[in-house]
Amino acid sequence: MLSSREIRQQFLDFFKSKGHTIVPSSPVIPFDDPTLLFTNAGMNQFKDVFLGLGTREYKRAANTQKCIRVSGKHNDLEEVGFDTYHHTFFEMLGNWSFGDYYKKEAIQWAWELLTEVWKLPKERLFATVYQTDDEAFNCWKTLTDINPEHILRFGEKDNFWEMGDTGPCGPCSEIHINLSDNPDDASLVNAGSPLCIEIWNLVFIQYNRLPDGSLEQLKDKFVDTGMGFERICAVLQNKNSNYDTDIFTPLIRKIEEITGKKYDSETNQIAMRVIADHIRTLTFAIADGALPSNEGRGYVLRRILRRASRFARKLEIHEPIIYKIVPTLVETMGDVFPEIKQNQKQVEEVIKAEEESFSETLDRGLEIFDSIIEKLKAENSKVISGEDAFKLYDTYGFPLDLTELMAREIGFTVDKQRFEELMEEQRTRSRETKKFFGAPAIVGKIDTSNLKKVEFLGYDKLDAEGKVVAQENDLIVLDQTPFYGEAGGQVGDTGKIIYDNYLIDVVDTQREGDLIIHKVDKIDFDLMDKTVKAVVDKLRRKAIMRNHSATHLIHKALREILGTHVKQAGSLVEPSRLRFDFTHYKKLSKEEIEAIEHLVNEKIRESLPLIHHRNIPFEEAKKMGALMFFGDKYGDRVNVVQFGDYSMEFCGGTHVSNTSEIGLLKITSEGSISSGIRRIEAVTGEGVEKFIDEQLQKLNELSEKYEQLLEEKLKLEKEIATLKLQEKIKELDTFLANKKQIDGFVIVSGIVQVDNMDQLKELGDVLREKLRNGVGLLASTFDNKVSFVCVVTDNLIKEKKLNAGKIVGEVAKLVGGGGGGRPHLATAGGKDISKLNEALNQFELIIKKTIQN
Ligand code: SER
Repeated sequence: MLSSREIRQQFLDFFKSKGHTIVPSSPVIPFDDPTLLFTNAGMNQFKDVFLGLGTREYKRAANTQKCIRVSGKHNDLEEVGFDTYHHTFFEMLGNWSFGDYYKKEAIQWAWELLTEVWKLPKERLFATVYQTDDEAFNCWKTLTDINPEHILRFGEKDNFWEMGDTGPCGPCSEIHINLSDNPDDASLVNAGSPLCIEIWNLVFIQYNRLPDGSLEQLKDKFVDTGMGFERICAVLQNKNSNYDTDIFTPLIRKIEEITGKKYDSETNQIAMRVIADHIRTLTFAIADGALPSNEGRGYVLRRILRRASRFARKLEIHEPIIYKIVPTLVETMGDVFPEIKQNQKQVEEVIKAEEESFSETLDRGLEIFDSIIEKLKAENSKVISGEDAFKLYDTYGFPLDLTELMAREIGFTVDKQRFEELMEEQRTRSRETKKFFGAPAIVGKIDTSNLKKVEFLGYDKLDAEGKVVAQENDLIVLDQTPFYGEAGGQVGDTGKIIYDNYLIDVVDTQREGDLIIHKVDKIDFDLMDKTVKAVVDKLRRKAIMRNHSATHLIHKALREILGTHVKQAGSLVEPSRLRFDFTHYKKLSKEEIEAIEHLVNEKIRESLPLIHHRNIPFEEAKKMGALMFFGDKYGDRVNVVQFGDYSMEFCGGTHVSNTSEIGLLKITSEGSISSGIRRIEAVTGEGVEKFIDEQLQKLNELSEKYEQLLEEKLKLEKEIATLKLQEKIKELDTFLANKKQIDGFVIVSGIVQVDNMDQLKELGDVLREKLRNGVGLLASTFDNKVSFVCVVTDNLIKEKKLNAGKIVGEVAKLVGGGGGGRPHLATAGGKDISKLNEALNQFELIIKKTIQN
């Protein structure tokens, strides 16, 4: 049996032998085509060639193309899981002719590959052609040995292929295989039967569908074919289902393993097919730079993941598991599509985070859904209201199609129209809130109908003359200006517009299509048609340029240090700081941040010159390998900003002419802004100076604070010591109450708990005061030994020749130690704590002995 790997290779080898250049798959995110959310066919990357806007070095090409069909004209999402041959992600094997061969060769070669190389049973193959396409009909009839009864004509729905609502299109001829018991049953063709499926579509592109719906004849004729790789593998591997081929079985086995369920019952099979399919879409899309979000393609991905999560619930799984299948997918496809291997970690992290955040609300949402259904059943209704669907969406994150899917499963429908109305109301609300908070709302305030593209002079000059071509309240448009209108994250310029003796402050500059609009302090005189001088605030602009160029260096450094999965996800360039958002799955370590900063500063010191490629064709820029920002749309002609041979990016912004002008870069913060997206903030040039000053100032303040605290600490410690001593002094009174009277004076002894000798001595002093006429002995245990202090009042030193040093020396001997000191106060110590009481008992005797001697 041929493996899928061999089948893919045989297709490419076959067309190589027919003079085709094998080209790589383009990413599933068509960053340069605003009409598409995802790449939906192999021909997408050649759209410019079909439309006569671009050329290639070859006239024939073939490849395997990663496709996603989940939105727009080609959307297979609803079918996926329920049948065995639709996918949201699939590979399309294709061959193309750009004004070279046409219908004859396309049909002959398709037939040759299918029936001679792969030996498919001819008697089971059908060819369909567009109803009026006699040429294709005759090619099949005369150039192949297909059963002529198997050549069928169909209408526009089945045999006229279009890329989207607009774009290249043309009649097509499809090849179907009938695997039913009756190979001649033509009624199964295009009837949605799993036993008779389309495997290859040969499109003869000759028109461009225009936005008004009309067809425009193209200059050349093209062949664009597409074969469903998963389907042809199922046919060649004799499987009834694409999911039984070696493309999917590793994924299904993995899902069985993780869920502990078998791919047996219908419920399990549907759920596992959905998950196996959706993980491919998610992995390839995220690896190519898309991220789940609340808008556009990001929202499509979110919907797909939520659909998969919900099917995991059908397998009784309540925790995130979908991300766990990524490694298996990478094992099976990572060598053909290395990008998924390179970005594996990021893909896993993003999916896991999404699963986690949804799973919190999913179970609760499912409960709410059930209660809605209960309520409807009681009311004998089968329509979920727009309000309920909206609540599920708004509160529990259920995309409309998920609610619809669940409704359909139990024979209910959703009031979609009301749902859309509620959505629209919400959008309006959020727009109004934005307006209220002063988001740029220049749109609509100025009549732009007769205005020509404004020439931007600000790459080379910061002041220039221009003629006022529009003036409206506080908005002024000149025919040419050095002012940069906010775009690509770089904020708009400020400065002055000067006319005669009037100096008018420009407080912001915005862009509106081809226009650059100066927002000024309101003026009440007419400048229309006047020639004025526009002067940009130079210091501010230079600071902005430093920060903008620095973001390019950071972008490149991030990719060098963290890996090429890092992609720009947004940026803000202001005079005082810069902000750079990028895809990465975990917090940057201190070392990584240092390495990035160091690398950027090295590139600053290397004084890399700016090479500014202005207004070059998009294709050329792409070929040069310039980095792109996925969120941006690019026109036919673009600017590329290059620093030495280090960094190269698509960019319309303004930049320093040499990296050394940046001065120095300092990263001031790093953090997460949403799942899989991190943000770096940094300062450059003067900003660093300011930053250092601020830091030093803080440091000074801190060290002053520290001194203060230290002083306070010492003071407090002293206070505590005094308080403690006072407590102990109270204990002395107890000892005094138990004093003994001998020979005309008193003796007092006791055990106190203190921490060191100093404290003990201090207590000794106090005791001595209180004794007036006597001898005192205090003992304490600290540092694993016994310590004593002995005190003798002055009168006894004189009259009785008592000596504290001698006494304490004798006492200490009893605990295995010794000591001594002056006659009025002396300390001593010993190791044998167990003998302490005995020693105290001997105190009186020792004094008596001393007196006798
Ligand atoms: N563009 C056609 C399709 O998608 C043939 O490649 O079916």
